[in-house]
Formats: sequence, C-alpha cells, structure tokens
Amino acid sequence: MNRLLIFDTTLRDGEQSPGYGMDSEQKLRLARQLEALGIDVLEAGFPAASPEDLAGVRNIARELKSSQVAALARCTEYDIEACARSLEPAVRGRIHIFLSTSDLHLAHKLGIDRPTALDKIAKSTRLARRYSADVEFSPEDATRTDLDFLIQATQVAVDEGATVINLPDTVGYSTPGEYRAMFEAVRARVAGIERMTLSAHCHNDLGLAVANSLAALEGGARQIECTINGIGERAGNASLEEIVMALHVRGGIYPFETRIQTHLIYPTSQLLSALTGVGVQPNKAVVGRNAFAHESGVHQHGVLKDRRTYEIMTPESVGAPPTRLVLGRHSGRHAVAARLTELGYPVSGTTLNLIYDRFLRACESGASLSDDDLIQIALDNRPPPDPPYTVSLVQASAGTVRPATATVRLNREGQTYVACALGDGPVDAVCTCIDSITGHPARVVGYELRAISEGRDAEGEVSLRVLIDERVFSGRAVGPDIVEASARAYLSAVNKCLAARPEIKPPQVPAVNNAARESFVGAQP
Ligand code: KIV
Ligand code: ZN
Repeated sequence: MNRLLIFDTTLRDGEQSPGYGMDSEQKLRLARQLEALGIDVLEAGFPAASPEDLAGVRNIARELKSSQVAALARCTEYDIEACARSLEPAVRGRIHIFLSTSDLHLAHKLGIDRPTALDKIAKSTRLARRYSADVEFSPEDATRTDLDFLIQATQVAVDEGATVINLPDTVGYSTPGEYRAMFEAVRARVAGIERMTLSAHCHNDLGLAVANSLAALEGGARQIECTINGIGERAGNASLEEIVMALHVRGGIYPFETRIQTHLIYPTSQLLSALTGVGVQPNKAVVGRNAFAHESGVHQHGVLKDRRTYEIMTPESVGAPPTRLVLGRHSGRHAVAARLTELGYPVSGTTLNLIYDRFLRACESGASLSDDDLIQIALDNRPPPDPPYTVSLVQASAGTVRPATATVRLNREGQTYVACALGDGPVDAVCTCIDSITGHPARVVGYELRAISEGRDAEGEVSLRVLIDERVFSGRAVGPDIVEASARAYLSAVNKCLAARPEIKPPQVPAVNNAARESFVGAQP
C-alpha cells in the first residue's frame, strides 16, 4: 500500500473564501477536530495577512501534536519571517511558499519577468529552509504555466532545498489527463524530484477538482491538498470527503492508505457548517442531506431488500445519520409499510392498500410527506393510541454559566416520574431527563427549529429525528418555549419507539441515582 498524505487547507484556502471567515477560537476548534479526523498536514493560515492571523496560526501550532502545521507565505522576507514566528511552537512546522509562474500572472499580477521569478524562488526557498526543515513550494497557476518554465522553476526550488513540490491548478482549468501528464513530466525532467513529495492542489471551477486530484495520484503525487465540504475560492477546492471516500470505496483502483478516520467525516463537515453558518448543498457527495436519501420507488424497494443495491458506501462509514427513505409520489408500498412499522404503526394487507391509496393522493401535489402526515393517514380509520408518556412539567435554566440544568416530570399509567439533569445546553439537559425516566436513551440524528410566525414572540416548531436501537423515529412539537417544544418533540419520538415495543416497561425502581450522567430520577405516587 502507498501512503498518501492528506493536507487540509480548510483554514487557509477555505477560510479566505466569502462567507467562511472564522475567529481564532473557531479556527482552533476546527483544527482540533481536523487533527482527530487524522489529517497529516493542516494549513493553518497566512500569518503575514495580519497580527491576528499570525496569532491564530501560532495558537494552532501550539495545540496540535499528531498533525503537522503549515503556514503560507508569498516569496518575500516579511511573509517567510511571519510564518517562521507563527510556527515557533509547532512540534513539526512547514513553511509553504508560493509564486506565480504562468506568463499571465507574471505580467499582469506580479509585473516581473521569468528570470526575476526564478531569483525570487531561489532566495525564498533558501530563506524558508533557514527557518524550517520542511519547505513546500507551489508554482501558482502551474497548469497554465509553460511546461519548460515550470520545470525550470521547480528545479530551482528543489536545488535550494524544498521538500515538497505542490503543482496547483489554481483556476480549476485542467483536465484529469492533462494534470496527470504534468506530474509525469515534472517527475521525468526535474533532477532530485524522487526525494520530494509531490502534491496536488485543485480548484473546482469546472467541477473537476476531485477527478484531477485522483489523476495526480496516477501521475505520482503522494499528497493531496483539499478542504472540508470542498470550500474555497470561487467554486471551491477539492473536497476532502470525496477524495477520501473515493480511495476507500475504490481501493482496487487507488491502492493508497491515509490516516483519516472516516467515521469522523460527517461530524467534521457539520462542525464546519455550524461554525460558519453556511450549510452544505443537499446533494453534496458524501456529506449532503440527500447523500443517503432515496425517494424513487424502485430505489427504495431495492434498498429495503439490500442497501448495497443503491448505496456504494454506508452512512455509518462516514458517521452520517442512517439511510433515509423519503416518502413521495415515487415511493412504493414496501417503503410506506416499512416507514409505518418504523414509526410504530405496523400495517399490512388491505389496510396497507387503503393507506397506500390515500398516501398517493396526498402526494399528488408533488410534495414529499412528513412522518406525521403519514401517521395521520394511517390513523384516519382508528383512534390514536395513548402515548406511553405525557409531559406535565419542563423546567430548564441556561445561560452563560455552564452546564445547563433541567427538571422534567412525566406521567405514565397513573404514575409520575421526575428527573433532573445537567447538559451542554437546556435541550441536552431536558433530553437527558427524559432518557433517565424512560431508561431508553435516544441519539438525536436530526434537529430543526423553525419560527412559524413573525416577531420575537414567534412560536417555534421543533422537528427532530432520534436513533434508538438502530431505528429512526421522528418527533415534532410547536410552542412559544423552544426548550419545552424540544422536550415534547423528543418525547413524541421516544413514545413512538415505546408504543412499538410494549415489552419496554416503565422503570420499576422508585429512585435511581445515575452518577455517570449526573442526573436523578424518581417515581412519585
Ligand atoms: O490555488 C493556489 O494556487 C493556492 C496556492 C497558494 C497553493 O492556493
Ligand atoms: Zn488554492
């Protein structure tokens, strides 16, 4: 197996694109997550940009142990020294210098000629090597650079002690065959290149960033530069999750090993969205909301029989919520029956046929149906069963002092149960109270909050999905207090599970101290 280095530039090339700015606390949080994810090199920023940028890179350099920290510099003394200062606390630092080499950039961006460019590359590589044993050189706009000059520029960097040569497709202009050929040419024509790590850095202007990065591997690259969710300048950079999962799923074609913990891919993607407030497009490969959702009847039927029919990787393998069958007019009877069973309303035979007809009529507008709509259709002919638990009190306190605390009182079969718990926030605390009482903890795998009227006194609608014993149940509640609505939505999802599993009885023990969760649960007559 060939070892492939994953170089993440979410905090540099990604962060500098519109809408993705982060403060130093947020950057540190994401850096910790990226290290846990298993990236080899983390490009933490561009220290010469401002004292804050320098301090941000320094913070990350001080913190990371298993991932190497890189910082970017133009070919100037000022930039390289800023990088050196920012990387002082790093266990292993890398100075990444770059200079444009295409004639277009030399003439119109830098206003210098080729010999001057070569001189700058030589001086800057030498200076960077004085500060760091590991120096990466990028000839910016490599894919639009005259090949002979690219070879010359690369040779200068190699001769002056660079350790990594990165060939960026800065404007996303290249194609897979062309990009691969460029790596082959550099490998064939630059003396000493066999001692270097060759690296690919692709932008996505033609949607080819991942394809080009994979082609670079075939040309000899052993480092790929990429970002979480593919964020980056313009159409973005090559997306880390797509590259890693392509290697994972198509290991026969790409026999490369990385250190990436694939089950942390989705949580990392979600963390980036939460920190920046920018969501992921629904159909984004690997991490989009629809990446593991199926609506067509034929597909749903296949997935219900064997998910491999329409899934080339499992959501679990990337840490994503389980496969979702979206019910709409393309869905078949099997999918409707399966979802109703999941929701605690098993149906079959003529009842299923009746429900399915009504379901199709309800879908005529083209909309997909929520679980609650489906339950309503199923219940049209029978009274709704009493939910196992009802809420009689929700009290939570939260604010700047952590942890949040909550008390919840539930009733079941004439008995009242009370639990108190701590949590990261009030919603976490009330859900922990409910878990303590039911004795059946659930994991929230989807949570949405929506204002259903205008103004700050608007009612909030909470829709959530929970995972219990590998099955998904949904809950929904509306109210002016979003913590209470969250508790009710959560309980309604848990109730669906309990209604489908009558063998799960309420706790018999009158009072339990659950030290691990720091919660208390007791039954009151
Ligand atoms: O796209 C690019 O050329 C870059 C370099 C600075 C590596 O981001
Ligand atoms: Zn770039």
